[in-house]
Parts: sequence; structure tokens; C-alpha cells
Amino acid sequence: MTTREDCAALDARDPLAGRRALFDLPAGVIYLDGNSLGALPHAAKARLREAAEQEWGQGLIRSWNSADWINLPARVGAKIAALIGAEADEVTAADSTSINVFKLVAGALAMRPERRVIVTEPGNFPTDLYMLQGLAAFLPGVELRVVEPGAILAALDESVAALLLTQTHYRSGRLHDMAGLTAKAHAAGALAIWDLSHSAGAIEVDLNGAKADLAVGCGYKYLNGGPGAPAFAFIARRHQAAFRSPLTGWMGHAAPFEFSDAFAPANGIKRALCGTPPVLGLSALEGALTAFDGVTMAEVRAKSVALGELFIALMDARCAGLGFSLVSPRNPAERGSQLSWTHPEGYAIVQALIARGVIPDYRAPQVLRFGLTPLYVRFLDIWDAVEHLVQVMQREEWREERFKQVAAVT
Ligand SMILES: Cc1ncc(COP(=O)(O)O)c(C=O)c1O
Repeated sequence: MTTREDCAALDARDPLAGRRALFDLPAGVIYLDGNSLGALPHAAKARLREAAEQEWGQGLIRSWNSADWINLPARVGAKIAALIGAEADEVTAADSTSINVFKLVAGALAMRPERRVIVTEPGNFPTDLYMLQGLAAFLPGVELRVVEPGAILAALDESVAALLLTQTHYRSGRLHDMAGLTAKAHAAGALAIWDLSHSAGAIEVDLNGAKADLAVGCGYKYLNGGPGAPAFAFIARRHQAAFRSPLTGWMGHAAPFEFSDAFAPANGIKRALCGTPPVLGLSALEGALTAFDGVTMAEVRAKSVALGELFIALMDARCAGLGFSLVSPRNPAERGSQLSWTHPEGYAIVQALIARGVIPDYRAPQVLRFGLTPLYVRFLDIWDAVEHLVQVMQREEWREERFKQVAAVT
């Protein structure tokens, strides 16, 4: 079986090992929740300080020009584009993922006016489903067709305007075949919209290789932009002239500073913008993205797979018979950069791990979820996390946590 020394040797050979020093990680913590909130990069902190103290504090209103605040969404979008297989002018940072889902799905419906059905799957991260429900309630005749993954192909008929799927499932980490499903959507005359929240910065994404039409994703997970970081939106170049956002704010206008009464969309990806860009959040995200400078997503993916394979092997060897059941695909080609197990005491076990400084997260019902962020998670961290888990189970520390939970409720 792999030993702790073997893991130290893997770290010594890891081409990404040096990236960890770019992050401000608290001592004594093993952070396995970067799929929920990425860790703080030093460059994000420095950029945030510069934006606040110099650009805002000293530059004041002049910084819209002198610090080029006005082009921050495009600048950040271009950096994200390089990580997801898109061209620089196809991605903008903007709003939240939820709002971008709304804008892009509404835009897709407008591009397929004779079609009124949106196909998606149940059990997706709730906000995608909720935003679709809200949109359908506002737009007469729009129908949601929510079908299990195995029924997606059959659901794609001539009434479908768009297929909206999350590439990497938030709970299980299961990957959808982006190129294959996009091709099927196109064959039915529909557009394919991808939520990359758990993919961007974690796995190799090739939006243009897959001929994806539209996409959204989070800035605060594997992109490490900080809590509530701006999200991003992708509109394939071939659709940009036809795309119309339902949220026609002034920053999406062709000439916002002409202050005209009538809305006219900007050329290109800018038309996906709505209101004034959140400069501080964008600045932090801009700094955070420098952690990817000089690495390829192939290297990131290779380490992610190696971390995941190690984790599964150690769990199989050391936690067999303790009630854990792997819900993520065993085949690394079928999963993103996270691993999830169910356990009937999942919540209490996660609390006991957190009390020991190992931070995964819990997703009801019963799921323990471990995010593997290749830029800062070490092979040694995986070994130590499993050792802590073994001790939590042997010493039944989770009973204490369950007691606290019951005491808090009663
Ligand atoms: C698939 C997916 N979409 C969207 C979001 C979040 O959207 P928002 O940033 O608007 O809260 C998440 C958050 O975990 C997610 O997993």
C-alpha cells in the first residue's frame, strides 16, 4: 500500500508543487473545499489592496480610465477564456452565475423563437433549475423538460430551443460528454449551454472544440476569485451578433457614455454586460487568475487525476467496511476534480474532520465531498486526510458531533 513517504516523494516530483506557495493557506489546515470556495492567492490580496488603496483611494473617478476599470470585465474574461478553450473575445466576467444563466437562456430562446422548450436534468445545482423556473414563469409558453441523463437524447426534438447542463456535477463530480451532447443538441436544431462552475480551472475544457454555443461559470471555486467573485459568460463568436440579453443595462449598450434614451446593444461579448462592473471583486479575480500563468490545463488535469486515484486507493485500502460508498465515477475520465462518498453519518463525520483541521464539505443527504485543487493540494494532504478520517472512525469522534447537532436542534 502507498505510504506517507511515497506521497512525499510524489510531491517532490510534482511539476505543480511550487504553485502552492502562491496561496495564503492557514497553517495546520488541509483544505479540500476549493470546489466551493477557492483559497486566497497572494496575488489576489495584493491586487485587491492596489485596487482599493491606489486606484480607488488615490485615483478616484479617474481610475475608470487611468486604471482601465472600464475594460476589467473583458480583461478578466480573456484570462478565463484561455482556461476553457475559448477565444479572448468570447468571454466576459459578469454578474453571478445565476444571473448569467438567466441572461443566456433567455438569449437562446430569442435565437430560437419558434421553439419554446428548455431541456435540463434534475438534481443539478439548484440555482440553474430555479433560474429556469423563474424564466419559464415570466415567459408565456416556455416549457422546462427536466429529464434524467439517460433520457436527454430522446428529449431533444424540434420543439427544443436549448439544452442546459452542468458539465461537472456538483455533488458526484460526474462529467457530461460536452462535445457529444452539444452535437446531439445541434442535430436537433437546439443550442447547447454549459454551466462550467465545477470545471473552469479544474479540468481541460474545450468549448470551441466541442462547438458549444453558450456557457457560464463561477469565479470563486477553482478560479479562486474570492467569496462572491464575479462569474463569467461565454458566447461563441458566431452567435454574438444575434445574441440579445434580456437585462439591457447601460454597460451592455453600444455607447454607454452617450446617455441616449434607446438601448442599442454593444458589439461582441460586451452586450452580455448589464450594470457597472464590480471593480474590487474583478480586481481580486484578476490577481487570482495569475496563479494559472505558465501552467497548462493538461498539467492541472494530470495532477487532479493523480490526486483522485490516490484518494480512492487509500479509501479502498483503509476505510473499507466503514460504511463509505463512492458516488463519484471510479473512472477518472468520467469525473471532474472532486470525490464524493456517502455515509449515513456524513454530516457528523465532516464536522469531526473540520474539528481536526481537515476541511471538506457536506451536501445533504449523506454526501461527504472532497475538492481536489491541483494548484495547492499536495499528495501528502490526501494521505493525512485519510489518516484523520480513519482516526475519526476508529475513535468514533463523529458521535460527539452528532450529539452536538441533536443538542443544537432540541
Ligand atoms: C453548477 C453551479 N451553478 C451555479 C452555482 C452558483 O451560482 P451563484 O454564484 O450565482 O450563486 C453553483 C455553486 O455551487 C454551482 O455548483
